[in-house]
Amino acid sequence: MLMYKEISEIKMHSQITYMFGEGFLGTRAPFFMDLVTLIVAFLPFLVAGAISFARNKHYKIHSYLQIFIFAFSVIVLFYFEYGVRVVGGFDSFMKESHVSHDYAMFVLIFHIAISLVTIIIWAIAIFMAKKLLQLGKHRIVGLFTFAGVVLTSLTGIWVYFLMFVY
Ligand code: HEM
Repeated sequence: MLMYKEISEIKMHSQITYMFGEGFLGTRAPFFMDLVTLIVAFLPFLVAGAISFARNKHYKIHSYLQIFIFAFSVIVLFYFEYGVRVVGGFDSFMKESHVSHDYAMFVLIFHIAISLVTIIIWAIAIFMAKKLLQLGKHRIVGLFTFAGVVLTSLTGIWVYFLMFVY
């Protein structure tokens, strides 16, 4: 008879192999990369949808949606980081790519810089929403956040293509 610990280890193992198994986009990427990239590709549309509620004066829905999308994105980021650490990072992904290592590294650094700035402005837009609304600055910070999410998404897709398509 299998012990509880063994069963949970087998379960965990199959979940992990699933995460690093073949993806579903038909490229060289593992499953978790396909999933994260797909979510990141949809993120600007989700944020635009949440902003449109503010435009239509549904401020409560706007704020709940923004909090939900932000929290969801942070969870996805942790899932992504875990996956990248386990697989061995950028160098292991670049092994099968035909793109120059330095060029891909440059694009990756560009992408990381944009995503870091975006997550900071995004957190400010969420956690200081009240204060920014009082100052009449919420709209402009929100629009900057949206621009950052779009750029994060586009540069992320660019990195994905360099590592797993070309
Ligand atoms: C808990 C967080 C949030 C709350 C409570 C909140 C609340 C509001 C409120 C009351 C307004 C209308 C006031 C105004 O137009 O000046 C507004 C508008 C707006 N919000 Fe937020 N918001 C939050 C998060 C965000 C985030 C994270 C973004 C960006 C990603 C964002 C983007 C916008 C934009 C662009 C507008 C202007 C819409 C328009 O053009 O009419 N908001 N928000």
